[in-house]
Amino acid sequence: MTGADFLQLDPSGVPSGGLATWLTAALRDAVTDGRLVVGARVPASRTLAAQLGISRGVVVEAYQRLTDEGLLSARSGGGTRVSAAPGAVRRLGPATRPPTPDLDLSPGVPDLSAFPRAAWAKASREVLAEIGSADLGYGDPRGVPVLREALAVWLGRTRGITVSPDEILVVNGVAQGLVLLARWLEERGRTRIGFEEPGSYGVRVHLQRWGMTTVPVPVDGDGLDVAALEASGVDAVVATPAHQFPTGVVLAPRRRRELVEWARAAPHRLVIEDDYDAEHRYDRPPVSAVKVLAPDRVVHLGSVSKTLAPAMRLGWLIAPADLQEELVEARYWLDLASPALPQVTLARMLASGAFERHLRLVRLRHQARRDALLEALTEHLPAARIQGVAAGLHVLATLPDGVDDTAVAAVALEAGIGVHPLSRHREGDGPPGLVIGYAATSPDRLREAVRRLAPLIS
Ligand SMILES: Cc1ncc(COP(=O)(O)O)c(C=O)c1O
Repeated sequence: MTGADFLQLDPSGVPSGGLATWLTAALRDAVTDGRLVVGARVPASRTLAAQLGISRGVVVEAYQRLTDEGLLSARSGGGTRVSAAPGAVRRLGPATRPPTPDLDLSPGVPDLSAFPRAAWAKASREVLAEIGSADLGYGDPRGVPVLREALAVWLGRTRGITVSPDEILVVNGVAQGLVLLARWLEERGRTRIGFEEPGSYGVRVHLQRWGMTTVPVPVDGDGLDVAALEASGVDAVVATPAHQFPTGVVLAPRRRRELVEWARAAPHRLVIEDDYDAEHRYDRPPVSAVKVLAPDRVVHLGSVSKTLAPAMRLGWLIAPADLQEELVEARYWLDLASPALPQVTLARMLASGAFERHLRLVRLRHQARRDALLEALTEHLPAARIQGVAAGLHVLATLPDGVDDTAVAAVALEAGIGVHPLSRHREGDGPPGLVIGYAATSPDRLREAVRRLAPLIS
């Protein structure tokens, strides 16, 4: 490897598993300190890869991550250019949105074809017929009372959380809850936040965009390593205890207790529980939320993104009592409140049982899809170790050492198949793997995707 004149990039000494992260950081730094100005063109991925002596997939992955962050944009026929400096508002237009592959097995999306259109339409009609004019004014920033009442019942029954409707803040998805919390922490000078390693790339970048420095805390077969959390010195952590993203591990009972002990061991410590897909469970016993164990130290976040659809932008935040008022006020000054009609409609779906019926139906459909994916992986990719199959909407396929998962995902994308390289969801090094979402794809298409993917892995 000889390095490139472009930004004097030199990959020597960077382990192959960490190349994409290294290159992403190097390019981001160059945009931040002005060596690459807005409008500047970056070399074609093939050219830069050749100069650096690394695989093209690594360069494609780094460009993709920076495109996701809003710093680069690909123009048709015009190469890839710097589109914004860090901190600038990201504009997601058709030009910056990543191409949608023909077979998109990206994780995080439920079976959207099963969206309960008829039940939602029926509930909406009923709501419109019954809702009073007064309910169409500026409402409570915490959300419409009837939804908070329905959620209190639902979360008690399905997540074990004892909560009064007054303690629930309706938000536009887990994402908005994270923004409110990041701002709250930042205003108090608390900008270092523990984050699972591996952990969701999207959530990590989101926190970083809102001023947080994420501190990686390793995850093992029992979930978040609480001893490492203690050693990290942070006083807040974002975790996915019910179904760790992306490994699918459930936080073990001993670790749950340790996490609560960690939270109670010093003042102001906070656990942010991202309960993003806890409703999807197939062949493992239910686990309750960590919020149940320490209501005074845990902020619980959930949404209907993985049960109904991400486009709903409807979720909930349940904070410890001493944070509630400040978060409600922050929410009010952010955008006053969430739209009322979808809230009342969801409340009706919850109260009538339509939501639960939908969940039962999609659980069966998701399970059939997961089984089809597992069968295909066993047949076509026997060298992969499959994890996280008992719950959720995706699996993690760990690949043999030495495989470059970034390059595999880039080649797969060129072949029309979308999967995430595990290394995208990590800040440091680790074994290679693919995060494969199955819920949004029919069994036949899943089989086809794996059949086409397998020969690309070497
Ligand atoms: C782990 C994780 N947390 C949070 C989110 C965001 O959820 P929401 O749509 O509720 O904002 C996602 C989205 O994919 C996710 O994967």
